[in-house]
Amino acid sequence: MRRYKAAITGIHGWVPEDILTNADFEKMVDTTDEWILSRTGIRERHILKGEGKGTSVIGTEAVKGLLLKTQTKPEDVDMLICATVTPDMMFPATANIISHNCGIKNAFSYDLNAACSGFLYALVTASKFIESDTHKKIIVVGADKMSSIVDYTDRQTCVLFGDGGGAVLLEPTTEEIGLIDSIMHTDGSGMIHLHMKAGGSAKPPSHATIDAKEHFVYQEGQPVFKFAVTNMADVAVAIMEKNQLTSKDIAWLVPHQANMRIIEATARRMGIQKEQVMINIERYGNTTCGTLPLCLWEWEPQLRKGDNIVLAAFGGGFTWGSIWLKWAYDPA
Ligand code: ACO
Repeated sequence: MRRYKAAITGIHGWVPEDILTNADFEKMVDTTDEWILSRTGIRERHILKGEGKGTSVIGTEAVKGLLLKTQTKPEDVDMLICATVTPDMMFPATANIISHNCGIKNAFSYDLNAACSGFLYALVTASKFIESDTHKKIIVVGADKMSSIVDYTDRQTCVLFGDGGGAVLLEPTTEEIGLIDSIMHTDGSGMIHLHMKAGGSAKPPSHATIDAKEHFVYQEGQPVFKFAVTNMADVAVAIMEKNQLTSKDIAWLVPHQANMRIIEATARRMGIQKEQVMINIERYGNTTCGTLPLCLWEWEPQLRKGDNIVLAAFGGGFTWGSIWLKWAYDPA
């Protein structure tokens, strides 16, 4: 039997054009550019504006661009997974809406929720369908419209998040490239520190939940920071040790963009230089499921076939994980 690996054969990203800068936040809440920049590394973030526009707008733009770029016919796509915490609606899945918008008719599509680790979880899930030779062209989208669940009067959370996302095409290869290994974790006890209090089946929306502002991100920054900084670094080092990779073997670290200090700590633990770390938090903030594909998209021209890439993320749940990826193609 042939053994297949799942290779990323194309990537595209998209962010809306409206921008919220730290200076804008200085007028909205009691904060300063200096505080935001020094504590998080963020200068500005993109915001999707417009009545009725949800995460599917971001996903649709990313997927349309990806199909064009990779010369893929929509009808040839046989699966689409959208990682998001901000679906357009409770149902149907945002993945279904994106598929419909892009003319993807022969795929089965669904959403996956693992908060900021969503793109990693979705990549691993999709890779299994490729490896088992049941599916040939899978699109994995990571996208979020975080502005829809952020309380713009809460200075502790509103400065952190932005909107955006990206999409990758996964295809089978018999070469030793693509997704080589992964380590994924979940710890549901972390829920108390990072969640949205209402809007789900446990506490459906009501006037009371709206008055209590329970439809926004609730985050206890410090405990989440402690878990994130330890676990993201641990899991990035773990994938290296498991595969006998040294820092010299690693071409790139692609870390979730939640906080510059977490990114730097992870790179330090891995023993790699800052120049090898994809960092765009300064311009996009934390786009949750969008951060990793946005990084890969922006760095795509610098990636070479065979580059060893470690992706690492930590998010609500808690969820966290790392992937060892061998890049599958040279720049066009
Ligand atoms: N401007 C000015 N002051 C602020 C602001 C702000 N925007 N926000 C908080 N402060 C104040 C606090 O009120 C506090 O003041 P006090 O000392 O008088 O009480 C002080 O700054 C320090 O607050 P901390 O919360 O201790 O600040 P910290 O250095 O921890 O930074 C942050 C906060 C950026 C949220 C950090 O804790 C963090 O990055 N946490 C992890 C985020 C993360 O990784 N999340 C997971 C992914 S998100 C997802 O899954 C959806």
